Amino acid sequence: MAALNSFLVSFFFFIFSLLFHASLPVTSFHSYRSLLSSMNGTASTSSTKHHHKWVGPIGHRVITVNVDGSGDFRAVQAAVDSVPINNTENVVIQISAGNYIEKVVVPVTKPYITFEGAGRDVTVIEWHDRASDRGPNGQQLRTYRTASVSVFANYFSARNISFKNTAPAPMPGKEGGQAVAFRISGDKAYFAGCGFYGAQDTLCDDTGRHYFKECRIEGSIDFIFGNGRSMYKDCELHSIATRFGSIAAQFRKKEDEKTGFAFVRCRVTGTGPLYVGRAMGKYARIVYSYTYFDDVVAHGGWDDWDHTNNINNNNRTVFMGVYKCWGPGAETLKGVSWAPELNFTLAHPFLVKSFVNGRHWIAPSDS
Ligand SMILES: *[C@@H]1O[C@H](CO)[C@@H](O)[C@H](O)[C@H]1NC(C)=O
Ligand SMILES: *[C@@H]1O[C@H](CO)[C@@H](O)[C@H](O)[C@H]1NC(C)=O
Ligand SMILES: *[C@@H]1O[C@H](CO)[C@@H](O)[C@H](O)[C@H]1NC(C)=O
Ligand SMILES: *[C@@H]1O[C@H](CO)[C@@H](O)[C@H](O)[C@H]1NC(C)=O
Ligand SMILES: *[C@@H]1O[C@H](CO)[C@@H](O)[C@H](O)[C@H]1NC(C)=O
Repeated sequence: MAALNSFLVSFFFFIFSLLFHASLPVTSFHSYRSLLSSMNGTASTSSTKHHHKWVGPIGHRVITVNVDGSGDFRAVQAAVDSVPINNTENVVIQISAGNYIEKVVVPVTKPYITFEGAGRDVTVIEWHDRASDRGPNGQQLRTYRTASVSVFANYFSARNISFKNTAPAPMPGKEGGQAVAFRISGDKAYFAGCGFYGAQDTLCDDTGRHYFKECRIEGSIDFIFGNGRSMYKDCELHSIATRFGSIAAQFRKKEDEKTGFAFVRCRVTGTGPLYVGRAMGKYARIVYSYTYFDDVVAHGGWDDWDHTNNINNNNRTVFMGVYKCWGPGAETLKGVSWAPELNFTLAHPFLVKSFVNGRHWIAPSDS
């Protein structure tokens, strides 16, 4: 019976994925290298490294947003629109406490933007699109375009702010309920003290290198998903699933991709039963280290997304595992041959910020 339920759940996940997870074209990458936090507006350096021009932001600007009209703008998108194309300044958009009910896009042409809220419980950007909703062209939005906030630019950061998708949580088995709160498709993005709230597919960790520190991420099914190369440190992963849920679905598709999700010192709480990781891509990589699991983990804990051949022990393509995790749910995660307890050698790459090349762009005090 449990096996059948598990099969049905997997089957539905699989069908939904086919229908709604289709990826959009990947945004172009720039090879900027900088240590964002050390830039104070006066430095302007140019040299070559690895055949790429070294380009960093020049100057520093603050833009204020307040719903009550006392800032430079009332809406976050208006503030983003005021940043010039090919921006070269560090732009801090300070967003006062309030609910900003709008869909926001930071285009690829506007790097170095920071959203700084007044606290993640008081500054909220929210919208309510679902995958089955129709866009302006009459076509269904599908998952990736539902994001309340989408960032395509490099060197984006956010602090002390929440992002929500307020569409009602879909009934289990209902199609088209994917509703993304935040999509990050830019490289070298940094998040601290942020909240991400939704149900199915809350955080689209799409592509690029990302670092999440002390964030709260809440949802029901695959609430962190995509092909990002990301580290989540000291984050709370909170499930609101009603029958079955899953935390992370990673979309690494080829052996030479460096993507994967590394969860370090996180806390897993909420309602279950919960799969902690699913192989959305054939080469998916998900590692939990030093993480606390509350008593919410589904028996077995991991899901192969019907990539049965890829978990064959002799020819395994996924890389899943745990390292020194604890709490009542950690026991339940044991016993899956293709997601074992790792030794230090295997776990190490997933424990350090070099997983996202963080030494080059995350200041020691920020990691
Ligand atoms: C900013 O840079 C200037 C010139 O390099 C330096 O004198 C100043 O101390 C720096 N300020 C900070 C806060 O790093
Ligand atoms: C932005 O930069 C690109 C690439 O250098 C250039 O082709 C484009 O014309 C620039 N756009 C504006 C509005 O400056
Ligand atoms: C902002 O976030 C940092 C963590 O990045 C936290 O230490 C700080 O207390 C937060 N401030 C507010 C006002 O929420
Ligand atoms: C192992 O998996 C790879 C990738 O799916 C495949 O190309 C290869 O043929 C498999 N090898 C064996 C021995 O099954
Ligand atoms: C770690 O585990 C791998 C895979 O089981 C094994 O090949 C390797 O020898 C182990 N390393 C150590 C130091 O135990």
